[in-house]
Amino acid sequence: MNWNPSRPARSALVWGIRYGLPGAAIRYAARRGDPVAKVIADPEVLADPFAAYDRLRARGPVVANRMVSATASHAVVNSVLRDEHFLAGPTPAPTNWLSRVAAAAVDPAALGPGEPPSLLAIHPPQHTRLRGLVSRAFTPRAVAAYSERIREIADELLDDIARGPATFDLIDTYAALLPVTVIAEIIGVPVTNRAQFLDWGAKAAMSLDPGMTWREYRVADRAIRDIHTWLGTHIADLRRDPGPDMLSRLVRLDELTDVELKSTAQLLLGAGFETTVKLIGNAVALLLRHPDQLGALLADASGWDKAVEEVLRFDTPVQMTLRTAHTDTEHVPAGQSLIVLLGGANRDPAVFDDPHRFDITRANAREHLAFSAGVHYCLGAQLARMETVIALRALFERFPNLAAAGTPVRGGTRVLRGYRHLPLRTGKVGLRAVEQDQLAG
Ligand code: HEM
Repeated sequence: MNWNPSRPARSALVWGIRYGLPGAAIRYAARRGDPVAKVIADPEVLADPFAAYDRLRARGPVVANRMVSATASHAVVNSVLRDEHFLAGPTPAPTNWLSRVAAAAVDPAALGPGEPPSLLAIHPPQHTRLRGLVSRAFTPRAVAAYSERIREIADELLDDIARGPATFDLIDTYAALLPVTVIAEIIGVPVTNRAQFLDWGAKAAMSLDPGMTWREYRVADRAIRDIHTWLGTHIADLRRDPGPDMLSRLVRLDELTDVELKSTAQLLLGAGFETTVKLIGNAVALLLRHPDQLGALLADASGWDKAVEEVLRFDTPVQMTLRTAHTDTEHVPAGQSLIVLLGGANRDPAVFDDPHRFDITRANAREHLAFSAGVHYCLGAQLARMETVIALRALFERFPNLAAAGTPVRGGTRVLRGYRHLPLRTGKVGLRAVEQDQLAG
């Protein structure tokens, strides 16, 4: 399509087609009690989605309205994510001219994490090529090599908490700072900018929310533009003077275009902390609510890996994703989108006994789909698991008497589930042995 509207007109058009019109229709349907619409547009469901997932599942493995279908069935979620007849995202169907207009109006300087060429939004064979290149810089060995450094960063943050007041906000002082520091070091962006990355990341993540308002869209759009501008300069610097980091390795491969590099860096950076913040926060909240299970972990540290799998299952940080059928399928007709409720699949009683019970000894917790499945399976799953186990062990070893100190505040979007604030009391102790020695000396 050969046209060139002004930037504000483009923004308004893209928002209107992608979020405004569908959002209004979905909210209207939710108010009229439509169970699919309620899952994404009812504020009460947002606060506690699990009962709504159960109601949806009770109606059948896939439930449809005129606009979209949804599934909270583990079997369907698992098979759809691995099915090549489904493509990630709201891929425009050939007959959907509105989607084509929106795609043509998207500004290449403001491509969000859900926009091509982000890995999340492209399909084989383009996806296979880009993912292959990125995975080369992200091998399990490369990731495992970061464990010591992650522990160091965790200890440094805990030192700061120990020196501070007895009550503190876990999210601001620990759960958010640890992953952003780790991912900044791994991909090679300056850690000194971490407050800026956290701010951009939270704003850009809103663009993954299907019900984004115009005001939210403008905030997200501004943040995404700023990220692109910043990354453009940073990547140009790395071309001249590459380092040992992952982004330099991708630059040196000389196989990714500038747009691909920026998009990949943006995704790795955002996906690298937005989700892990939620996982660490959700884990701490759950363990404090289940002191017997926390006690068992403190007595025997071999259970941490399994405990993190149970948190991923029980309080899934990425609650949902979207797939669109590009041919007629068993579940939905060609061109129709399916809301794939990862958080619903993870509470499916057909797979998990007594699914609403949090149990760190659950034998099959690892069958959860919190990291998705198929070609878009989370590239950072290994890192996220390792980082969370280290973060939790370091935290509870340092503050074995950690306790809630106020009401937790949920934050995030419809897609991301986690806490914005988690006020805690250290229960003191807290200094590292070496510091205690120094004080004694
Ligand atoms: C608790 C932490 C995390 C959770 C719950 C999570 C979840 C997910 C999910 C559900 C997807 C697939 C979405 C879909 O199928 O549509 C995904 C993809 C992805 N994640 Fe993660 N993630 C986490 C941490 C990370 C980290 C630490 C990184 C990077 C360092 C990362 C990088 C990615 C990338 C690059 C993709 C796109 C893969 C592709 O499309 O091929 N994630 N993640």
